[in-house]
Amino acid sequence: MTTSQPSFRNWIENLPKWHGLVRISPERAYAHAEDQYDAQYGVSAREPEEGQGLCALLQQNQVDTTGPALEIGCGTGRLTYGLAHHYPGSDFVATDPSPAFLRLTASQFPDGPAGPARLHFALLNADDLGQLPPDMFSLIAMRSTLHHILEVEPFIAACARTLRPGGALAMGAEPLESGYLLMAAVAQSIGPTLKAAGIALTPRWRRQLDDFTATVKFYCRRDLVKDTAEDKHLFTTHELADLGRRHGLQLRYFPNATFSDYAPPFAPEFEGFSVFFLNYLQFCMQFDADFMDLIREHLRDQLKYFDECYSSHPGPAITGVFLFQKDARS
Ligand SMILES: C[S@@+](CC[C@H](N)C(=O)[O-])C[C@H]1O[C@@H](n2cnc3c(N)ncnc32)[C@H](O)[C@@H]1O
Repeated sequence: MTTSQPSFRNWIENLPKWHGLVRISPERAYAHAEDQYDAQYGVSAREPEEGQGLCALLQQNQVDTTGPALEIGCGTGRLTYGLAHHYPGSDFVATDPSPAFLRLTASQFPDGPAGPARLHFALLNADDLGQLPPDMFSLIAMRSTLHHILEVEPFIAACARTLRPGGALAMGAEPLESGYLLMAAVAQSIGPTLKAAGIALTPRWRRQLDDFTATVKFYCRRDLVKDTAEDKHLFTTHELADLGRRHGLQLRYFPNATFSDYAPPFAPEFEGFSVFFLNYLQFCMQFDADFMDLIREHLRDQLKYFDECYSSHPGPAITGVFLFQKDARS
């Protein structure tokens, strides 16, 4: 940090406030009801292993964690909860554009900060990251958020700028193009497979399938206007690595890993393509329960094939952990 820069505390205390939140960006609601989010995905907002695992991963990779941390797109706090308990630096700013999400996350800390870091809650849209001071944060963390951000390259450039030398941008649960296309291809075989077994798709099931394959196509295409869509992109690891390199960040990719894999005891465990695929249809695409039962039964052999190919290593690459490190000497 240069002497002309504000200290973190000075900077954050001088930002405008809005109903008890720090306001870096104007508030913006999520596209779906925030209070239904955890129920839809069948998850708990309190997954301490996510943040704990991320902190262990940072330590394993010698990331400097002495400065403040910033989380972007905290949602209901699935990553925030463990990070707040385990992040060893001085301050932790959990952010989201949605005030409802920030309040849900804040409600997990009724007694104030849970760990060594002082906790702050701020309205922040990733598009405004360029407003943050340079060399301010040791960690920028996000989970399942990059694919919501319209302009990815300016965002990565802004992260690189506001990271301190030796710091890192860590991302988990982002969708990869190859794996999602594979899921869509398997989904396209559901109709013919059930038909061969004498089962006709109901119009509702047909709509659910078409919705899924059209969604993947929308994410995949790069020639469409995406500013009003909530979810926007699929990624490739080589493009993310190039992007990072262009902005002075070196990428390490951990295929299909989650942050929680790195929580002690270290036991990386990808659930396998079939589990990921079935969970995606059930929780993200909201397929009917009786339709899911038929898919499980009649696509068992096809899905088993993928799992057997990857019985000894994680794949096909469908998601993972991405750790972009900024050189300690930059
Ligand atoms: C799929 S949710 C993930 C929430 C949480 N991180 C989790 O893992 O459960 C995506 C999050 O990104 C936030 N988000 C969407 N667009 C954003 C943007 N442009 N800048 C910052 N956050 C954004 C949403 O409000 C939401 O909280």
